[in-house]
Amino acid sequence: MKIIVAGTGFVGLTHAAVLSEYGHEVYAYDVDNTKLDAYRSADPARIGHYVSEPGLPAIIAENINRYLFFVNNIEDIVDGTDAIFLCLPTPPRPNGSSDLSFYFKALDQIAPMLAKRQDKRRIVLINKSTVPVGTARQLEVKLKEHGVPNFGIASNPEFLPEGDAVEKSRRPDRVVVGGDTEEDLRIMRRIYSQFTNHVRISYIETTPETAEAIKYVANTLLLTYISFWNGVGARLGEAFPNVRMEDLKRGVTADNRISKWGSYVSNGAGGSCFGKDIQSLIYQFKSNSQATALLESVYDINEYQKTYLIDRAAQEAGATFNHKTVALLGLSFKQRTNDMRDSSSLKVVESLLARGVKEIRSYDPLAVEEAKRYFNPDKNHLFEKVTYHDSVKDALTGSDMVFISTDWEEFRGLSRTIEQAVKPPFLVMDGRRMIPDYKELVERGYSYIAVGSPFMSPVK
Ligand SMILES: NC(=O)c1ccc[n+]([C@@H]2O[C@H](COP(=O)([O-])OP(=O)(O)OC[C@H]3O[C@@H](n4cnc5c(N)ncnc54)[C@H](O)[C@@H]3O)[C@@H](O)[C@H]2O)c1
Repeated sequence: MKIIVAGTGFVGLTHAAVLSEYGHEVYAYDVDNTKLDAYRSADPARIGHYVSEPGLPAIIAENINRYLFFVNNIEDIVDGTDAIFLCLPTPPRPNGSSDLSFYFKALDQIAPMLAKRQDKRRIVLINKSTVPVGTARQLEVKLKEHGVPNFGIASNPEFLPEGDAVEKSRRPDRVVVGGDTEEDLRIMRRIYSQFTNHVRISYIETTPETAEAIKYVANTLLLTYISFWNGVGARLGEAFPNVRMEDLKRGVTADNRISKWGSYVSNGAGGSCFGKDIQSLIYQFKSNSQATALLESVYDINEYQKTYLIDRAAQEAGATFNHKTVALLGLSFKQRTNDMRDSSSLKVVESLLARGVKEIRSYDPLAVEEAKRYFNPDKNHLFEKVTYHDSVKDALTGSDMVFISTDWEEFRGLSRTIEQAVKPPFLVMDGRRMIPDYKELVERGYSYIAVGSPFMSPVK
């Protein structure tokens, strides 16, 4: 089928690449030419600068100019096109609502072209962006206003997790398609023919509104589960010294009804979706005079979690930060991605700078270039204090304490590296519980405080 994917960020690029693998003729369309040039080069480093996902450059290299084309104009392409996926940004506004300006701007560009099509065959416009319930209906109104003939609308939310985007696009848990007519649903089935009769992948057809709601419920439920462990599990481990987090998790999740996924405690969940989607749902409920107490608590717990370890270090360990040098391990919001959107590290840096630290010596295996954009000294001169280092050891060298913010595998079991790089007194703030043998560290004179454990002062 001939398909246009509008917006080539994390979602659009991955989706376009995987669709091309299945033999569709895919036009990945974006307004950002620099980005398109990087994709056209098929150079993994240049692609990774924008979207760093394992396996993605190989699919692009394999299919480019055969099944996959990167374009910044679709005027000559819309004829003969069966479907357009809208993978546009829907960031949060300050009041929490979804900012649909990119989405509607793109529509205002695309709709007049569709109105002028010579080929009057059915074309389906599909929302893959996460959009408030009812947006597909607005899409329909907009296309009618522009006089687009013979079109359908559909909602096909994306559930891919960053870091695992290719694998999960090739083998999703489910494909949710909301549509109005059998004709449109049939077009969607042809696009996703490899999934419709799959033994393990659920192919779910429903109304556009239900599909939109499924995305919000799924994402806020995941965050609720994470926040439950952070708000209840972590607090238990911190309040009662002999409660062991790892045993607590195993004991609770041995019940098949309780998910093992998300049963960890941490310095909060980041990423482009959790925070924004829950805020959007809160806003949607408020606009309908619905109660929002549960969702607001979930959101607040997650935000609190991002920096409360620093507050605990001050209160429980008597740590002072003024003029101190702090090593920061991990900048991306989770392992295996360079994405820093809503990353806990942003809040950690903000909190440390507010406490007057002298330097933040950061290390991340993938997100340094990204971090330099966030911590640009032209935006705030205090960001000059954030320095970038080539290894964990380099970041630790010369520091007074360390904060572990991301769950990169290479941060697991760091006690030996810490001992080699810095001598006590030294404080380890472990936001990800990455140091299972922390007791040995404490025996050797280091202080240790982790999410889910009481402060451990050094053995004198
Ligand atoms: N990132 C995720 O993990 C994820 C997962 C599921 C759903 N989503 C949702 O998918 C949507 C896209 O997210 P993303 O992370 O890919 O965003 P992104 O910001 O990485 O990419 C969006 C792309 O759209 C392009 N764009 C903006 N205006 C355009 C226009 N007028 N015409 C063509 N292209 C235009 C931008 O240049 C950019 O390349 C959002 O609604 C998001 O909530 C994201």
